[in-house]
Amino acid sequence: MKQEIKHILSITDLTAKEIWLIFRLAKKLKQELKSKGSNKPFLKGKSLVLIFEKQSLRTRISFEIGMAQFGGNTLYLDPRDTGIGVRESEADIARVLSGMADIIAARTYSHQTIVDIAQNSTIPVINALSDLEHPCQALTDLFTVWEVKKYQDLSGLTVGYVGDGDNNVAHSLCLGAAMLGMNFKCGSPKGYSLNSEIVKKAQEYNANILQTEDPKEAVSGADVVVTDTWISMGDTDKEGRIKTFKDYQVNASLMGYAKKDAIFMHCLPAYRGKEVTAEVIDGPQSVVFQEAENRLHVQKALILWLLKKSH
Ligand code: CP
Ligand code: NVA
Repeated sequence: MKQEIKHILSITDLTAKEIWLIFRLAKKLKQELKSKGSNKPFLKGKSLVLIFEKQSLRTRISFEIGMAQFGGNTLYLDPRDTGIGVRESEADIARVLSGMADIIAARTYSHQTIVDIAQNSTIPVINALSDLEHPCQALTDLFTVWEVKKYQDLSGLTVGYVGDGDNNVAHSLCLGAAMLGMNFKCGSPKGYSLNSEIVKKAQEYNANILQTEDPKEAVSGADVVVTDTWISMGDTDKEGRIKTFKDYQVNASLMGYAKKDAIFMHCLPAYRGKEVTAEVIDGPQSVVFQEAENRLHVQKALILWLLKKSH
């Protein structure tokens, strides 16, 4: 029987049903790890290769520790090791890895690089962040909301995102929220709104998406307030961006427009005093470290589900 190879380049490579399946598995794995101190070695003898063009803390360690907890192995390749597209083509790298490893996670500047790797890979490829999307982050963010809301249905809840809309985290979160029936409002300065193709794709899920230049409108009545760095990896004109985004800081006054029990989320790394004040990110509404830890549990569920599917 032909194996079904599934790649996760966009969060929309999953269906809403599959997202819920992964969430339930992540919940189970997390509970098992917390209560028993370990999970079963489901992935003994399996290897994950991380091909990273950019820096990382959470994504790298959650994949590495996750594989180790399942009894598997991880190999981390930075750009000096592989020279993606320079020393060797994306296609040849993908073909070589397909012969030796079981799964690939790639973090690249251009989204097209991951598409090229996936097109030539016979093992599953996960987008570990590209300039367009960060699906692992969005899955974790939505899982964390579900956890905080005591596993209630997420549909009808509102995410208010403030800052750079033309951003990988915002894009995947907008799509993921739309898939789960949530409303998504994005408050960004002119020229930094959500990518129009992403909005179009999100609207195919009959979602309520609002793009505004007013950060107050974006967070007003929100259940979840989210922001990200004003300067993503690869962005230039740092000083110009700081000036452009200065009125888009998530501070206590802006949080006051959200629901009383709203939570604050940030993928990290965060820049206190820029996109968020210390008062908010280190305050009682912030769930950023629960969110960071959940990268481990959700990616473990994703890997397990993907590998089960392709074997
Ligand atoms: N949030 C996130 O992806 O963090 P890293 O860039 O450290 O992996
Ligand atoms: N938007 C940020 C996310 C970092 C996890 C970046 O791409 O640098």
